[in-house]
Amino acid sequence: MSTADEALSAVTVRVPAKVNVQLAVGAARPDGFHDLANVFLAVSLFDEVTARPAAALTVTCEGPDAARVPLDATNLAARAAILLAQRHGRTPDVHLHIVKDIPVAGGMAGGSADGAAALLACDALWGLGSTREELLDICAELGSDVPFSLVGGAALGTGRGERLTALDVGGDFHWVFAVADGGLSTPAVYGEFDRLTAGAEIPEPTASPALLAALRTGDPVALAAALTNDLQPAAVSLRPSLTAVLDAGTAAGALAALVSGSGPTTAFLVKDAASAVSVAAALTASGTCRTARTACSPAPGATVLR
Ligand code: C5P
Repeated sequence: MSTADEALSAVTVRVPAKVNVQLAVGAARPDGFHDLANVFLAVSLFDEVTARPAAALTVTCEGPDAARVPLDATNLAARAAILLAQRHGRTPDVHLHIVKDIPVAGGMAGGSADGAAALLACDALWGLGSTREELLDICAELGSDVPFSLVGGAALGTGRGERLTALDVGGDFHWVFAVADGGLSTPAVYGEFDRLTAGAEIPEPTASPALLAALRTGDPVALAAALTNDLQPAAVSLRPSLTAVLDAGTAAGALAALVSGSGPTTAFLVKDAASAVSVAAALTASGTCRTARTACSPAPGATVLR
């Protein structure tokens, strides 16, 4: 079988998780979304999505948390296939298999990652040859974080996070992620943000010049000093046990600790790969989290593997 024939029988796409190194949240808009200055960094925890021809749209998932992944049309991978097929006047007759390594409902854009990966995989499987702009447009329709999952690296997301400007990153950053038991609903965390900030003057979200400079120079100590997440008080309010996880990572020698996106995964920036291993071991031993994972950034966006 030629390579072209193989490409038509199955396409596998690898896609990274993300951490928000800055998540500045504005006031709720009339449409219920919040304007953001959202600095995304892709990290080396990956899902893989394989698309194969099938009689009808089906989704399967494997991995430690597979039981918590919806397999119906609420799965962003399924929605991506449906939206792409609609745009091209065809049926989404595809089987999507997700190998899940990104924490589920953890604030690391795992669902968004699967949406971006499925979109790229179906586009290749169906030989559609969509442009980057066409794919990004569908990603934005799927969800605020989906465009970033497609492009990876580092980017500033404005609007509801979907309008991306690529950012320069001058070196590798090392991370530990503490995975909590159970997830947190993103709309619930934004709702709690609204409740906690009710009546307060909420400034326009803007990217921090110090944070962008730290990314550019690849300086982990400067990045640690600049990390912020406006959703953190809301995530901690809904899940008070996160305070103990953040404290355990800091006590273990992390340069900085913060909630990843809407949580409940917590992110620890460390100085190097060796420190990542020791902080992960200490976090696991602390009993404050289900498991701890090491990763580095930046990582590439959604990529066709085969
Ligand atoms: O865009 P996405 O579907 O991922 O958003 C999930 C939910 O998160 C939205 O329904 C909204 O409640 C909240 N959200 C928000 N402002 C954003 C992004 C998400 O309020 N910029």
